[in-house]
Amino acid sequence: MAAKIIDGKQIAAEVQGELGARIQKLSARGITPGLAVVLVGEDPASISYVTAKERACERLGIFSSDNRLPSDTSEQDLLDLIAQLNADPHIHGILVQLPLPKHIDSGRVIAAIDPAKDVDGFHPVSMGNMLLGLPGFIPCTPHGVLVMLEKSGFKTEGAEVVVLGRSNIVGKPLAALLSQKRPNGNATVTVCHTRTQNLAEHTRRADILIAAAGSPGMVTGDMIKPGAVVIDVGVNRVDAPDTNKGYRLQGDVVYEEALQVAGAITPVPGGVGPMTITMLLFNTVESAERG
Ligand code: GUN
Repeated sequence: MAAKIIDGKQIAAEVQGELGARIQKLSARGITPGLAVVLVGEDPASISYVTAKERACERLGIFSSDNRLPSDTSEQDLLDLIAQLNADPHIHGILVQLPLPKHIDSGRVIAAIDPAKDVDGFHPVSMGNMLLGLPGFIPCTPHGVLVMLEKSGFKTEGAEVVVLGRSNIVGKPLAALLSQKRPNGNATVTVCHTRTQNLAEHTRRADILIAAAGSPGMVTGDMIKPGAVVIDVGVNRVDAPDTNKGYRLQGDVVYEEALQVAGAITPVPGGVGPMTITMLLFNTVESAERG
């Protein structure tokens, strides 16, 4: 039987509906949540992410400040902008789109963001709080994956979860959250990466398989346990000369194969992507509520 498709757009719409009510309450108090988006350079994928984030803000009534800087912007100019945004009372969240150009130290830039406005959850203080189970901002993609699992009725408690990828943005925080003693946690987590041996032996054990390696089509049908829940975080641009754009988006999972084996699966696009944006809005609203 073909897998159930986990519709990220539908779940995102549901969460955004809940956020709409919270934004109205803030509005009654004279507060408009504000998100500053900072993009350095002209990377096409980054431009498209940033534009999608700004459009989502507009739809929901979140003020967004668009800061697009040329690729030769100096690190100091970027740090000065961050300082200005940290001090701006209309801004509750600051997002610096990654990756930054090579001449800029992204660690230094992220560390310059006020943790109270770190809606990406990438600041060392946010990461530390998350690891300790203390209040703070949870990175958007991992948070989106947890909400997706919860709203689709898939329990993580006691489940064997395999995470492919150990990035700071997705793999590392996801593994930490899923293994914690917390709602949507309590899973037995295995993290696989480029040095993992016998990868398929690990992935075939997974009740929930989360592919976040950034490698198009690396998970084939034979690597999936029958009936497993497969979450595909990969958004890879692969050449497609026959299309208008010249590329198409492909996940880390071979979708057609996985569909025949898995119990449930997220599509690409329309799976995790809409959830990432939604959790950014969620963090921005939370920040505005904290005041
Ligand atoms: N680049 C890819 N994903 C992300 C994200 O979630 N946040 C930021 N700031 N940059 C990214």
